[in-house]
Amino acid sequence: MLSEVPTAVAGAGERWLQGTFDRYARTYGNGPGYAAIVGSGPHAPTLHWERCDGPVRPGDLLLLDMGVEVRSHYTADVTRTFPVSGSFSPVQRQVHDLVERAHRAGLTQVAPGRAFTDFHHAAMEVIARGLDDWGLLPVSVDEALSERGQHHRRYLICGIGHHLGLDVHDCARSSPEAYHGARMAPAMALTVEPGLYFHVHDRTVPPELRGIGVRIEDDLLVTPTGAEILSAALPIDATGLETWTKERI
Ligand code: GLY
Ligand code: MN
Ligand code: MN
Repeated sequence: MLSEVPTAVAGAGERWLQGTFDRYARTYGNGPGYAAIVGSGPHAPTLHWERCDGPVRPGDLLLLDMGVEVRSHYTADVTRTFPVSGSFSPVQRQVHDLVERAHRAGLTQVAPGRAFTDFHHAAMEVIARGLDDWGLLPVSVDEALSERGQHHRRYLICGIGHHLGLDVHDCARSSPEAYHGARMAPAMALTVEPGLYFHVHDRTVPPELRGIGVRIEDDLLVTPTGAEILSAALPIDATGLETWTKERI
């Protein structure tokens, strides 16, 4: 995938990368498990940027959310956010580092017997505290984290994980008791996917943050003793992603 980034930068744009992934998925599996998301620069904060009709510029962050549906019909759902130039700018890295901390907090909560929502709350607490450190919360962290608060969700409007299986949002029609109200059990597969999305016209954040979107999404299998990260081959930290990018572009 990343070896095709120079062609995208040269003019072929986001859709070249989406098409590259689709061809790969169709060749080696059944096809894409869902419409692949390629969000470069100011498109990265759009949650499901499937239109993919924008350019890819050298200073952009490139959010790739993609999964191959394999021949057994199960799909993956993985996201990484890469610096097109090979290096995060200081402010891009600052955002990525906070999402990484939230992600790691979420990952530790995936284990049998835990409430399905534990990883969501653990990651959200890290996000809220980080935004407060940056002066972006209009209320205290406690108020933001309260049920009626949720001020941090302005920059992270989606849930941060879901079951995964034959469908990318597997059994999204399950009853609340069987889904968000349930406890995790061995053999469940799910995603953990916190992010931060600062839209390009959002005047509640300083100009340098506008147009930055970062998501880290891993697929996990709950095991009898904890969880296995099925997508662990990909780095999740900014330095690891820089190395990964430089080796491939
Ligand atoms: N790719 C859709 C999602 O992350 O839920
Ligand atoms: Mn997902
Ligand atoms: Mn995804």
